[in-house]
Amino acid sequence: MKCEDFLFLNNQVCVIVGAANPRSIGYATAELFAHYGAQIAILDVAVTDTTQAALRTAMSAKVGREVDLLCIPCNIVDPVACDRAMQMVVEHFGQIDSLINCAGIVRSEGMLDIPSQDLALMLDVNLKGTFHTCQSALAFFTKQQKGTIVNLASVAAQRGGGLVGGAHYAASKGGVVSLTKSIAREFGPQGIRANVICPSMTETGMLDGNVTEEQFNQVVAGIPLRRAGKPLDIANACLFLASDLAAYITGHTLDVNGGGHIH
Ligand SMILES: NC(=O)c1ccc[n+]([C@@H]2O[C@H](COP(=O)([O-])OP(=O)(O)OC[C@H]3O[C@@H](n4cnc5c(N)ncnc54)[C@H](O)[C@@H]3O)[C@@H](O)[C@H]2O)c1
Repeated sequence: MKCEDFLFLNNQVCVIVGAANPRSIGYATAELFAHYGAQIAILDVAVTDTTQAALRTAMSAKVGREVDLLCIPCNIVDPVACDRAMQMVVEHFGQIDSLINCAGIVRSEGMLDIPSQDLALMLDVNLKGTFHTCQSALAFFTKQQKGTIVNLASVAAQRGGGLVGGAHYAASKGGVVSLTKSIAREFGPQGIRANVICPSMTETGMLDGNVTEEQFNQVVAGIPLRRAGKPLDIANACLFLASDLAAYITGHTLDVNGGGHIH
């Protein structure tokens, strides 16, 4: 076997949405994909000139070569911004092979305390935002007659809310699961795959201020593997689903939860 055979994503262009925070699942995915040979575009509402330079330096140092990293500020709530960002990726790299949707927000209110503007924001970012980036990427995938999508939902969608997210978060993630299955069914005949990952509690900035140490320890005690997820755990699953290792897998919901929800 040649060395390149292990570069599962050699010369592939991968768009990772929601990767500007170095502690995020998206960033871990971008770094891992770069390690396996991909060219990376990061779309995130938090991208600035400063974050862009810092991400490029950190990623190149980790991967051990100069990574051709394109960072585009993009609020996925805006479908026009998503179209524009995807167009910029194609102008820069010439194609898009994979879209990994990691952007998201969480809130912890109980159902009766959720103001309608919080519900609207949750659905706007988590569900409609994912819908928008998928639509924008699919416009290119259908021309290419190939492409893969990996969306990030949550165990909250499966078990009726979670520790961190309220009913609005769970509902938005349930929508992401349904959306992904619909894409898999509609676009499979065109060589396009779509899968969704349901992580459980993962150690990223998303937990900051949303989970007390006591709650964190309580959740970990109920997980058979006795630890919370790490961003790399989820990134590894994204790598599998985006690569040809998963060439015959589409419409699948992959649990990455340490056994915390076995069903
Ligand atoms: N961390 C967990 O415990 C956990 C558990 C289950 C599911 N998830 C899901 O995994 C995904 C990644 O989560 P994370 O923990 O890395 O979160 P994170 O908060 O660390 O990172 C999310 C990223 O999304 C970006 N973002 C937020 N709103 C955006 C918008 N409107 N447009 C563009 N970018 C936007 C942020 O700037 C940030 O860089 C999310 O969809 C989350 O719901 C996380």
